[in-house]
Amino acid sequence: MKKTLYLLICLLFIAAAFTSCNDQPREIGWLEGTTDEMLAMLADQFGGFDQTMIEVGYRYNEIYWAGQDENWEYALYQLDEMTGTLEAGFIRRPAREESADMFMNVSIPELQAALEEGDPDLFQRRFESFTSACNTCHLNEDVRFMYVKPLEQRQSPIHKEPS
Ligand code: HEC
Repeated sequence: MKKTLYLLICLLFIAAAFTSCNDQPREIGWLEGTTDEMLAMLADQFGGFDQTMIEVGYRYNEIYWAGQDENWEYALYQLDEMTGTLEAGFIRRPAREESADMFMNVSIPELQAALEEGDPDLFQRRFESFTSACNTCHLNEDVRFMYVKPLEQRQSPIHKEPS
């Protein structure tokens, strides 16, 4: 019993020392300050929703050109990555999620179904509605001056594998 009490007191001391040590300002590479300050510096490096959108813009073009190539596997891959990026973006910027409701729950699944079917005509039609949904969210979020339409020229080195 005495031994257990002694052990408990020791553990409490270690925990207290660890906590106070964590709160001491220090430097780890380019990070400096207390743990909270360092975490805030790290969070800052992720950027805001603009970073999410730069990635969404890239993947949007990849989907468009993959559709022209009928490279459905690549288009599906890009759509899946785009969904993940948006979900991560909503964790950082929850206020944006509501305007994207239709986009996430209707536009993405509809485009996905077209890609799974591998039907070029259906793809063109669904991709147009998909693009409109980008613009609807931009309208809702007061960035209508950021009008979305696919790039006229391919920029990516990824092409359909030659057969
Ligand atoms: C939440 C709804 C929402 C959806 C859905 C959405 N966007 Fe955006 N987009 C925004 C907002 C908000 C901004 C402005 C960024 C900011 O304020 O941080 C933006 C900005 C952008 C930018 C400019 C980013 C920059 O800083 O250079 C691009 C490119 C972009 N969106 C592409 C798209 C494309 C392509 C789609 C559809 C596949 C799309 N967006 C769908 C909300 C949305």
